[in-house]
Amino acid sequence: MSTNFSPLFKPWQHGNLTLKSRIVMAPMTRSKSPGGVPGPDVATYYRRRAENAVGLIITEGTAVPHAAAANDPDVPHFYGEAALAGWKRVAQEVHAAGGKIMPQLWHVGAVRRAGQHPNPDAKPVSASGLFRPGKQVTDPMTDSEIADVISAFATAAASAHRIGFDGIEIHGAHGYLIDQFFWDGTNIRTDAWGGDAIRRMHFAAEIVKACRRATSDSFPIALRFSQWKQQQYEAKLATTPAELSTILAPLTDAGVDIFHASNRRFWEPEFDGSTMNLAGWTKKITGKPVITVGSIGLDTDFLQTFGAKSAGVESVHLDRLMTMINDDEVDLAGVGRMLIADPEWATKLRDGRMSEFKPYSRDSLAHLA
Ligand SMILES: Cc1cc2nc3c(=O)[nH]c(=O)nc-3n(C[C@H](O)[C@H](O)[C@H](O)COP(=O)(O)O)c2cc1C
Repeated sequence: MSTNFSPLFKPWQHGNLTLKSRIVMAPMTRSKSPGGVPGPDVATYYRRRAENAVGLIITEGTAVPHAAAANDPDVPHFYGEAALAGWKRVAQEVHAAGGKIMPQLWHVGAVRRAGQHPNPDAKPVSASGLFRPGKQVTDPMTDSEIADVISAFATAAASAHRIGFDGIEIHGAHGYLIDQFFWDGTNIRTDAWGGDAIRRMHFAAEIVKACRRATSDSFPIALRFSQWKQQQYEAKLATTPAELSTILAPLTDAGVDIFHASNRRFWEPEFDGSTMNLAGWTKKITGKPVITVGSIGLDTDFLQTFGAKSAGVESVHLDRLMTMINDDEVDLAGVGRMLIADPEWATKLRDGRMSEFKPYSRDSLAHLA
């Protein structure tokens, strides 16, 4: 490899968020917090990445304080004294290693099935009660259920602010609750929360505003969104730059500071006639900083690696990433699986030790450390 990776290791600053590198650890569920409480091992796990040149860590999705938010008893909560004490230690350790960290605030919505732990009695909630187009799994949310979830996000944001996190990321991607409002396949409401593209953004916009009110004017709020849904990989929220502009405007107005545009392969152009990806377009349209993500450093996208395939290490597309950073098309680079497989991935890249990269496989998840 002859690519110069130094642009990835230039510090980055926005408002009062200063990062030592452009490398962001993408949020990745670990299911290693029994009872919802992240233990000292979770702090060690994130600290190892921060010690190795990762500028910003976005934690695994962590449940907001709402009974139906999670569907796995080992996913961490972002509420309750024990869980928040665990998270406070995580933030302290990452800070001690010179890193910054935001929790990814998560509600799974209708991806949760009735009876699932940690709260088997809680009814799944979703915009129109749909898991995917035509598949009704629960009732449409009432106004008071919507208000409860908005306030759950705000409470979690206030906790993040109080216990020393550097911002929050709101999980609006991949077909979970917020995305169930975004997507016309799962939001068939005709009231203030649905009906057209702008009204489908209303729920997320209210969450962003509530999180802002619960924290401070300068507390960074990132929003992750995606075209693809786990229910339907070909789904799209926007098929043209004009449609993307329509949906991003209410979110920008609500106060999103950083957009995290989730792609499976970052090098793929989003719309015809331009090489720009979803993150690039988002930055061009909103003027806000963006994180790009999707198979950075890998040759196989992450849905394929949930099957038997392992992912090989590759370099071709990293040239494209450097161009995107150098041209200010994107600001930050989200890295997922490579940072699971190899906590030292970023330092090895920086120091030209690419031959030492550890490959990612399903086994990497079993030995997650
Ligand atoms: C094991 C695993 C768990 C994940 N969990 C989450 C999650 O909790 N929240 C989220 O937004 N994305 C999650 N993702 C998606 C990643 O954040 C990332 O977008 C995806 O892996 C693509 O990046 P990569 O190709 O560098 O791995 C997960 C991915 C993997 C592989």
